[in-house]
Amino acid sequence: MNTARISVTEAKRSGQVRTLLRHLAVIGVMILLVLLFRWRRDINGVHLWNRAFADASVVLLSITLIIGPVVRLVPGVGPLLPWRREFGIWCTLAAVMHVAIYASSFKFDLKRFFGGSLGQTFHWLDNPWAIGNWIGTVALVYAVVIAATSNDVFERYLGRGWKHLQQQSYTLFILTAIHTAIFLYAAATFGKGIFTAFFWIALVLVPGIQFAGYVATVRRHRLRRRASLKTVRPALTP
Ligand code: HEM
Repeated sequence: MNTARISVTEAKRSGQVRTLLRHLAVIGVMILLVLLFRWRRDINGVHLWNRAFADASVVLLSITLIIGPVVRLVPGVGPLLPWRREFGIWCTLAAVMHVAIYASSFKFDLKRFFGGSLGQTFHWLDNPWAIGNWIGTVALVYAVVIAATSNDVFERYLGRGWKHLQQQSYTLFILTAIHTAIFLYAAATFGKGIFTAFFWIALVLVPGIQFAGYVATVRRHRLRRRASLKTVRPALTP
């Protein structure tokens, strides 16, 4: 009885250590990405840092979303699955940093946060900066809710609804893609850096691998059903 309790405690502790190590590794990846995207001379000051965190966030989100289908497609990489949580959480924290750096540049003035100005005229909606900010805000709400519920406590509490909530990360990807495209091609068109290449790769790779994973799952289910029908049929025939 006691030995059983000790081994349960030990298993719990080693699980916590593994989670901590995954967090540290993903923080390392995030720092490397921020440094990579910050390594440029065409922009400076607040743009440099807030964009470096924004770019890192998009890459971390893309990694989070391809882990699931990759595990379905490539045999033997199942141990990658738990990494989704840490990548998702640090993608959100990088997005929070992106927004915090941007908003601190105008002392968190809500009018500047939600709107945009063209010359001297202020707009709540009808300019690319304002629309980009609104879409970014909706994306951030999605990211925070998904990351905050990405743990065992909420998984138990929400039951079946938990998976549905986590699957909203695809909505987050679409919102982020629209937000990013607005800033890269319509609003802040100055200085694109190397991120544009990462952006387009993510746009092709994430839905592409997702689709391939879906096809592989459907095929596996069909084969399994055919195999089980084969074993049942002889028993049914007189
Ligand atoms: C999940 C949340 C978000 C993500 C993943 C995200 C990501 C991005 C990305 C990738 C860019 C383009 C960076 C580049 O040009 O290299 C960008 C730009 C920008 N985003 Fe976001 N964003 C998010 C939320 C927000 C929010 C809530 C706001 C403000 C309301 C915002 C404001 C901006 C601004 C102002 C720019 C242009 C930056 C500049 O020119 O310095 N973003 N964002």
